[in-house]
Amino acid sequence: MYKIAVAMNPIETLDPTKDSTFSLMNQLQIDAELLYIIPDSLVLDNKIVKAKVSKVSIDKLTEPFYKLSKTKEIQLNKIDAILFRVDPPVNDYYLNIAHILGKLEEGGILVINSPSAIRLMNEKILGDCYSPNTLPSIISNNIETIERFVNKHKNVVVKPLNMMAGKLINKTSVKDKAFKKKVRQTQKNDPSNFIIVQKYIDVQKYGDMRIILYNGEVYERGLLRFPKKNEFRSNLAQGGNYKIKNVDTKMFHHLTIVSQILKNNGIYFAGVDVIDKFITEINITSPTGLQEIDGNTNDLSSKVARSFLDLIDQHKS
Ligand SMILES: Nc1ncnc2c1ncn2[C@@H]1O[C@H](COP(=O)(O)OP(=O)(O)O)[C@@H](O)[C@H]1O
Ligand SMILES: [Mg+2]
Repeated sequence: MYKIAVAMNPIETLDPTKDSTFSLMNQLQIDAELLYIIPDSLVLDNKIVKAKVSKVSIDKLTEPFYKLSKTKEIQLNKIDAILFRVDPPVNDYYLNIAHILGKLEEGGILVINSPSAIRLMNEKILGDCYSPNTLPSIISNNIETIERFVNKHKNVVVKPLNMMAGKLINKTSVKDKAFKKKVRQTQKNDPSNFIIVQKYIDVQKYGDMRIILYNGEVYERGLLRFPKKNEFRSNLAQGGNYKIKNVDTKMFHHLTIVSQILKNNGIYFAGVDVIDKFITEINITSPTGLQEIDGNTNDLSSKVARSFLDLIDQHKS
């Protein structure tokens, strides 16, 4: 039996019918003892990482869907791997968790995904780095610079650099009277906050395709999401609907290279968002979509879980 600890959001907040952490744990528990790290119990005690943990088992059909054993504090250096699945925002709180888990990584424990990579990379900037075609975009906190970009590209989206699920993302244009207000909102009312501004792509026409990368591979089917009426954000959390589609051959080959590069940098699991021929972001903190892509099967979830166990085996040898 493998021993895997999961750093995640409070377990009671998960929806077992939709959550990707749930489906990963559900597959992993077949071969591994899972330890749930009690949120906010992580501590770096001199050089030793400790946390309060409970053995956890999950089952969609029971109420509640999880069973926890009595909690005890342990040193986390005695386990096979940590699954790091805390949701954004990637703020100080998040980066501090990454710092502490990073100490385990330095000590030779496999952490999926690598906390040092999480500290170095940014999900929105990664999109720009690895898109096969360049989508005009800037990252700035300067309203004049942003205004110039919008004047050039007419319709744009403004996004915070550290959020998820479509939060604080706005569509705006040169003609938009609320332009400055929307920019400020995306900046969380702090003008020093950098944001990403991207040229608007016709997402109603193309949809936003979620493609899963795992352990240097690309899953061949993705989740093509479309926004609901009067909305441009396709996130399921924003009411988007979806269909399952095969990944375009050219994009598949491109993403295979991206997946290998990410793996070499400690990112073993990622969710790429593609609109038309552009990668708009690469989720590396807690990618979602597994349950929707799987439908009534466990095909993708079991492949991803299996790849994590393979990584543990390779890591030990
Ligand atoms: N450049 C763009 N053009 C048009 N729509 C976009 C663009 N970027 C993002 N969107 C829309 O906003 C949604 C959320 O953006 P995304 O960059 O994926 O951030 P999040 O991390 O919040 O999912 C997407 O699902 C898409 O519908
Ligand atoms: Mg997205």
